[in-house]
Amino acid sequence: MEKIVNLAKRRGFAFQSSEIYGGLASCWDYGPIGVELKRNVKEAWWRDMVMRRADIVGIDCSILMHPRVWEASGHVAGFTDPLVDCKLCKERFRADKLMDAQCPRKPSKHPGECEGELTEARQFNLMFKTFMGPVEDTASVVFLRPETAQGIFVNFLNVLHTSRQKIPFGIAQIGKSFRNEITPGNFLFRTREFEQMEMEFFVRPGEDERWYDYWREERLNWYTRYGIRRENLRLREHAPDELAHYAKACVDVEYHFPFGWSELEGIANRTDFDLRRHAEYSGKDLSYYDEETKERFYPYVIEPAAGADRATLAFLVDAYDEDVADGEPRVVLRFHPRIAPVKVAVFPLLRKHGQPERALELVAILRQHFTVQYDQAGSIGRRYRRQDEIGTPFGVTVDHQTLQDDTVTLRDRDTMQQERIPIERLVDELKRRIEV
Ligand code: GLY
Repeated sequence: MEKIVNLAKRRGFAFQSSEIYGGLASCWDYGPIGVELKRNVKEAWWRDMVMRRADIVGIDCSILMHPRVWEASGHVAGFTDPLVDCKLCKERFRADKLMDAQCPRKPSKHPGECEGELTEARQFNLMFKTFMGPVEDTASVVFLRPETAQGIFVNFLNVLHTSRQKIPFGIAQIGKSFRNEITPGNFLFRTREFEQMEMEFFVRPGEDERWYDYWREERLNWYTRYGIRRENLRLREHAPDELAHYAKACVDVEYHFPFGWSELEGIANRTDFDLRRHAEYSGKDLSYYDEETKERFYPYVIEPAAGADRATLAFLVDAYDEDVADGEPRVVLRFHPRIAPVKVAVFPLLRKHGQPERALELVAILRQHFTVQYDQAGSIGRRYRRQDEIGTPFGVTVDHQTLQDDTVTLRDRDTMQQERIPIERLVDELKRRIEV
């Protein structure tokens, strides 16, 4: 993990937030390469979950919502973690995760095992509160959403009436959520501000278990489709005492991070809990009328809810490799071409004979289609290494022959094989290789 964090900072994947002021704990900023990586992860999700499906539509809701939403959803009463304080060092810990925590004074011990006595556990609500408008009184308290899902539930009728969808159908959303975690950590894995990729799939009651099974498989396969190794993924069913207050069943897609197996995504059967609660609290009828069977009912919901930052970290970790190229050790990120932040790098072999000018003309063409880097500094071997380290799948070299016959060499990051192809075929050939 240390290697990944160092590489991330050195090459512009992620920086600590507000670093020049000493940083803000558990907050990270994506740099020029990281932002491309995360965008590609989100775009792959959106393409597969919305664009390529007739039965799912998208939405983009506001982060601030009416405070009653969070009463109805159960988050005001139930979205809590049990918390204990150490009377000696004044640190706070999750009472149910003491064995995962270290005593700050004696790191070889767990909290409570040193001289410090722990308080009784108290329930601590994880929602961030803020004030809407200029008056800081209780009437203007609003929450930063702790999940994007509720924006989907409260818009169920709006989407139903405007999209001509019929059950079974889904509504998908990507956006920021906030949780005041007691113990954030592990780089991008657990942060208090994070981005979710959630989809609520509305089904007929009684068909929920079949759809739950469907989405478990579908979502697991999504990660392998973009290159994550199957042996680093597993499904873990929640025990009854782990289930969220709204769920009848939940399974996590877990990834084998360097710090252990951890959740990338939860697939939950939320039943009709949310729609019924919003109907009760808002006084609006949120039931669904089935034209064919002439039945009215509250749909059940299957929810695949993924963390965009966690997925980004998993793609980064899984891509990391070290090998030997041309007799020299190299770090290489073996990203799937779809996920790779930079798709193609262009190099003039020499900084003379018109090669840089020809290479820059080529860059201008390629930029219309792909994220491109141009590099003329140092030996060609060093330039390949620089690109391997950020996972660029393709390298194009302009050499003396290019100026004679308009061909270039195309290098593959993984096989390191090079082939000569005409410039006029380059864009199509790269598209073919990326859009696998
Ligand atoms: N909507 C489920 C979650 O945020 O975990």
